[in-house]
Amino acid sequence: MQGFFASLRMTALTTTRLNMKHPGLFITLEGIDGTGKSTQIRGLVRHLRECGHRVRVTREPGGTPAGERIRAILLATSTGKLAPQAELALMYAARAQHLAEVVRPALARGEIVVSDRYNDASLAYQGYGRKLGTAGVRAFDRIVCGRTQPDLTIILDLDPGQALARAQGRETRRKSRRGRFEAQGLEFHQRVRAGYLAIARSAPGRAKVVRADQAVGEVQTAIRELVDECLARHLKSIRKRG
Ligand SMILES: Nc1ncnc2c1ncn2[C@@H]1O[C@H](COP(=O)(O)OP(=O)(O)OP(=O)(O)O)[C@@H](O)[C@H]1O
Ligand SMILES: [Mg+2]
Repeated sequence: MQGFFASLRMTALTTTRLNMKHPGLFITLEGIDGTGKSTQIRGLVRHLRECGHRVRVTREPGGTPAGERIRAILLATSTGKLAPQAELALMYAARAQHLAEVVRPALARGEIVVSDRYNDASLAYQGYGRKLGTAGVRAFDRIVCGRTQPDLTIILDLDPGQALARAQGRETRRKSRRGRFEAQGLEFHQRVRAGYLAIARSAPGRAKVVRADQAVGEVQTAIRELVDECLARHLKSIRKRG
């Protein structure tokens, strides 16, 4: 009950609309394939729009016409084996386009940008999953992303066996085939998961782990609490700046 009233207070706070003069808020959702990112983003965006916010939903790799073409190369099993550095460079090429066309303009308009994956995915998948290490990924990140870093990152954490079973269930229903990353096997996804958890430990203020082995509604409640808190802090700092 206490949590319920706290969330009501938060909702009241967050109904203050971000206005044009102020930079927006950048929220990213991360986690291995099948953890529920797309499912949770739909609920989160509904919540934010009901609170009166202008929200730009996007995804990586992709989010722009050129980026979606790069995404197709990255995810198609027909692409076969890519050199890990080639994979990393393609990810950051798509990201550079995404930043220029979508993320930075929306943030400059004061919108809340919600991205299904962003730069932590490169650290986790290429840095840890492909064993490229974090230094090289961070070097790309400094060049391409620079100061455009997420204000809040939600990491959905789930055992890779469970996550891949969910993703495969979805593919069977859609009659689609598994992509390059889903086809990587458990050990790869275990490294990616460990990478995400390492990111959360190294940036505890920004990156928050949410257990994804709960019902969809429970995961959504945990996400909304984190987003509402972050939004309240953001609005407070904007008011202080006048
Ligand atoms: N909390 C949950 N409990 C059980 N099933 C879930 C839960 N969340 C999502 N699912 C189901 O798991 C499947 C994968 O979810 P979703 O597509 O949202 O994951 P994703 O993280 O976006 O995956 P991908 O990285 O492959 O895009 C879907 O069929 C979805 O309905
Ligand atoms: Mg998804």
